[in-house]
Amino acid sequence: MAQCRLPSFVFEYLEGGAEDEVTLRRNRAVFEDLAFVPTTLVKAGAVDTTRTIFDQPAKLPLMIAPMGFCGLFSHRGDVSLARAASAAGIPFIQSTVSNASIEDIAAVPGLRHWMQLYVFRSRPFMERLVARALAANCEALVITTDASVFGNREWDRRNYRRATEPTFRNKVDVLLHPRWMRDVVLRGIPAFQNLLEVLPPDQQTLAASATWSRREVDPDLDWERVSWLRSLWPRKLVLKGLLAPVDVKQALGIGVDGVVLSNHGGRQLDGAISPMTVLPEIASRFGGDMTILIDSGFRRGTDIVKAIALGADGVLLGRPVLYGLAAGGEAGVRKAIDTLGEEFARALALLGRPSIAQLDPTCLYRADANRMAQYEKAERLV
Ligand SMILES: Cc1cc2nc3c(=O)[nH]c(=O)nc-3n(C[C@H](O)[C@H](O)[C@H](O)COP(=O)(O)O)c2cc1C
Repeated sequence: MAQCRLPSFVFEYLEGGAEDEVTLRRNRAVFEDLAFVPTTLVKAGAVDTTRTIFDQPAKLPLMIAPMGFCGLFSHRGDVSLARAASAAGIPFIQSTVSNASIEDIAAVPGLRHWMQLYVFRSRPFMERLVARALAANCEALVITTDASVFGNREWDRRNYRRATEPTFRNKVDVLLHPRWMRDVVLRGIPAFQNLLEVLPPDQQTLAASATWSRREVDPDLDWERVSWLRSLWPRKLVLKGLLAPVDVKQALGIGVDGVVLSNHGGRQLDGAISPMTVLPEIASRFGGDMTILIDSGFRRGTDIVKAIALGADGVLLGRPVLYGLAAGGEAGVRKAIDTLGEEFARALALLGRPSIAQLDPTCLYRADANRMAQYEKAERLV
């Protein structure tokens, strides 16, 4: 439905990956190598999907991933995502480059509001953003570490620019999508609201804010900068975009509370490994000491079961909620979360592990022989 409702240059911004999209495909293929070993004749009348993340229970082990430029998919798209997250009882991670301000999202009732940071060159501006997130009572700060150089998304190179500077062809495409035109174009897409204070008064536009954000992201982001942000932020701090165990170790060493294992949904380094492949090692080494979250390629409840079984504490939803948003606004996002939640609960019941706490690697079998040996070892321990 999302693909039908959006002009193609908008859908490509949502869907596309970097370069040859090898990582984008790998993010899906990895789940097929993991097979379930269900146990049957287990009472599965009551299924418990509750998961405590950062000391607060969530109805599902899920949260909404930070995604920029959501005003392109639906009018006030960020607010719709946040409201749906609140209704579902899961956290919402707001992107730095959202079309709503931190304060707009903080006004959504009952929301667990986390704020994602792209780290820009200007330290005073970063201090301001952190102060605003603190004042808005954000529960966690999520620093994105895998995007200090922009990925080579060839769809985006054409389309992202065209969303703010439409060509004749795009204008025709818009006319062919009257529902989107009415909802998004005629009501107007706001600039990236969190950046307005760094833009000169005559340049408070969407195009100027998008250009500024691309130009000013700091390509020299490093551990020193993260430690500095750690010193500014007293609440939960999460690093997003880690894949190497050595980086997770370093994160723990500087007092980071959690990580999101992620390849940015295949939108940054093409050829990057799937976070699902590194999850077992990272979870077994660091899982007791920090919160391990994961994203990239999750499309089914069974995918979520596999990640939790391999040691993840929770899963970030990316494109699935954007499909919902484009197809049906806030109700569409709720539908997307509900569908995944129902699939997750059904899979737990069918697997014979009706409580999320019963998930562990022994319910999975990997196609290759080494992994089979691991499974057998785990099996013997049970
Ligand atoms: C349209 C779009 C915009 C995104 N914008 C951001 C962003 O502003 N900050 C960020 O850290 N990640 C961003 N991401 C990456 C997501 O947070 C997440 O890592 C990714 O979408 C997960 O993969 P999935 O879409 O396959 O579930 C974006 C992803 C998409 C699809």
